[in-house]
Amino acid sequence: MSALAKSEWLIPAGLIAFSFVPILAGSIRLIELGSGAQITPNNARFFTAPLPIVLHIISFSIYCILGAFQFAASFRSHKPNWHRAAGWIIILCGLCAALTGLWMTLFYPTINYPPVNFDGPVLYVMRLLVGSAMALFISLGFAAILKRDIQNHRIWMMRGFALGLGASTQVFTHIPMFLFPNIQGELARTLCMGAGWTINFVAVELMISSERTRRLP
Ligand code: HEM
Repeated sequence: MSALAKSEWLIPAGLIAFSFVPILAGSIRLIELGSGAQITPNNARFFTAPLPIVLHIISFSIYCILGAFQFAASFRSHKPNWHRAAGWIIILCGLCAALTGLWMTLFYPTINYPPVNFDGPVLYVMRLLVGSAMALFISLGFAAILKRDIQNHRIWMMRGFALGLGASTQVFTHIPMFLFPNIQGELARTLCMGAGWTINFVAVELMISSERTRRLP
């Protein structure tokens, strides 16, 4: 694809590589559900109500892969029709990922089966906030583009994507829990999950504010 300068491949390629682990984890879950694997305390909720998790995995995978290309500037300017068509799919998939995430948070049974799961009430509230914020940011990005407000469209879509990619950052923020099993527990789990979202939130706000500074005369 000549439209994309070589160096610009780095942005989509980097973002796709970054989302590789959640997409892989989701694919393994889909295979598990499809192959009728053994039901255990760790996966019973997914077998009891598979639709939300299946929709979640399919939608976040498309969102992460297609969404990565939207951030390459020359791709946007050389392929505006692609950006528009992909944008519709990404908005629908992003909303689906956020809403199914909220659905699972609200309706999957609350489980706390150490050492398999340490999800507690603070993480529950965090998920409600993050899922709602992601859906809101994507909706604001959509509303902005309907008004041809490119600047705010870009900013809200970046924010939504950053929150979504919190799932990727959480792969890294969980490393201490695996390196030091003695710290495993509800507190560590909550901090590791929260750190993933916080890092991405701070990173995207820094990017947005540095872009604003560069645009100042
Ligand atoms: C692009 C965005 C997202 C990605 C890449 C992502 C990734 C994942 C992955 C890999 C899983 C594990 C699936 C499994 O264990 O089989 C998962 C499950 C889940 N996600 Fe997301 N997710 C995203 C957005 C969200 C949002 C915004 C929320 C907020 C509510 C959310 C809430 C959940 C919940 C509640 C589960 C099930 C957890 C459980 O019961 O173990 N996700 N997601």
